Amino acid sequence: MTQPPVIGVIGVGYVGLVSAACFAELGNHVICRDIIPEKIERLRDGHVPIYEPGLSDLVVKNRQRLTFTTEIRDVTEQAGIIFVCVNTPPMYSGDADLTFVEAVIAELPDDIGDVVLAMKSTVPVGTGERMQALLDARGLSHVRYVSNPEFLKEGDAITDFMHPDRVVIGGTDDVAIDRLAQLHAPLETRIVRTDVATAEMIKAASNAFLATKISFINEIANVCEETGADVTAVAEGMGLDRRIGRHFLNAGIGFGGSCFGKDVSALKQLAGNSGYHFQILNSVMEVNELQKRRLVAKLGKHLGSLRDKKIALLGLAFKPGTDDMREAASLIVASRLLAEGAIVRAHDPVASEVARPLLRGVEIHDDVLEMLEGVDAAVLITEWPQYAELDLVHVAKIMRTPVLIDGRNLFAPELAERAGLTYEGIGRPGAVVGNPRRREQDGAASASTEA
Ligand code: UDX
Repeated sequence: MTQPPVIGVIGVGYVGLVSAACFAELGNHVICRDIIPEKIERLRDGHVPIYEPGLSDLVVKNRQRLTFTTEIRDVTEQAGIIFVCVNTPPMYSGDADLTFVEAVIAELPDDIGDVVLAMKSTVPVGTGERMQALLDARGLSHVRYVSNPEFLKEGDAITDFMHPDRVVIGGTDDVAIDRLAQLHAPLETRIVRTDVATAEMIKAASNAFLATKISFINEIANVCEETGADVTAVAEGMGLDRRIGRHFLNAGIGFGGSCFGKDVSALKQLAGNSGYHFQILNSVMEVNELQKRRLVAKLGKHLGSLRDKKIALLGLAFKPGTDDMREAASLIVASRLLAEGAIVRAHDPVASEVARPLLRGVEIHDDVLEMLEGVDAAVLITEWPQYAELDLVHVAKIMRTPVLIDGRNLFAPELAERAGLTYEGIGRPGAVVGNPRRREQDGAASASTEA
């Protein structure tokens, strides 16, 4: 039996570490390199610096197959396939900053052997060409460059890695593509072979499309609020059409996280740089911004002036299952509320510590019921499943005014109202100020899916 190739991972952030742990789980030896010595030290001790369900266990379980180093040579001397997983943060212009990616090419030793260099970092279309030129200029044309974008969702990253909808490999070197396809063979998924630019565009277009789906359903939700329709039932009804699909049609307070905003903006800039005005993407971003502000307007509708009102935020992370606060809606909502003079309290089952330094002026509570005691309104920001378990009758009793704004449509409106709460979701009829149609529609709001 041939030995599986040694895998190298450069950049042990979120994508790098998940990929490394999963490749190790598939039986490969993986050498991970990062430039931050403390991170490497901690990983050697089995401490995973990010919250991702199952990741710590996977790293510990596969520790015999995982090596952590700060030396690039440790990777290049042993690995046959090297994944580049460094970050590509947005610059002021909205373009992706490729400094770290280029630094990887610059660091490759002159005597590097026959390796596949697979780009997993999210990079603009055209980066492959630029990297190939850098490799050629350094006399490293034999390095086999491919694009291998990742589609991992935080909170589900391990499942997404192990059961991908597809693996995209872009390149012109058949040997490199075959090696990468072979590495992914145990995943039994569809391998999409293409050129580098197309692979890069598949990633950019996929994220932009998903973000568009979210902004689209949020606009439908806003129109539902004007017309008395229920967006949750609308999404079910739409989603049954296989051409549309039900995924990513959950209306709410907009998307956050490190990818969507950055990737939409990078694609828009990329198009703009070549003279094309990508109109839809402008709207996608604008709708996403406004959606968070509408939430604050909803509070004002129920409470009048927000000055000195106590508002409790349920959830801070940009989505459940993570402690990631990057581009989290809670950051915008909290600072808007503080600007309106409100007293803001917040709770998150996992992200409190990460959030604390970002939310100056916000009282962060460890106990959700203690937070809700005496508040004028509660706002659901992140749909952590434990919030769905809250005893709403008790919640209504301990609040000063029992107003619940459900930014993710987590709660059943009828149950919330029966518990004594004044409930308002996103794009759902509620028995609240400004929606006289609600009562007539009670019970008829859900679309029946029976034939
Ligand atoms: C996303 C992509 O899904 C993934 O393929 C890519 O590799 C990285 O970016 P991630 O940012 O981890 O993954 O989270 P995702 O689950 O996609 O959610 C992004 C944001 O959209 C969250 O704030 C979420 O709350 C929001 N969202 C998602 C909605 O508002 N409605 C939906 O229907 C789905």
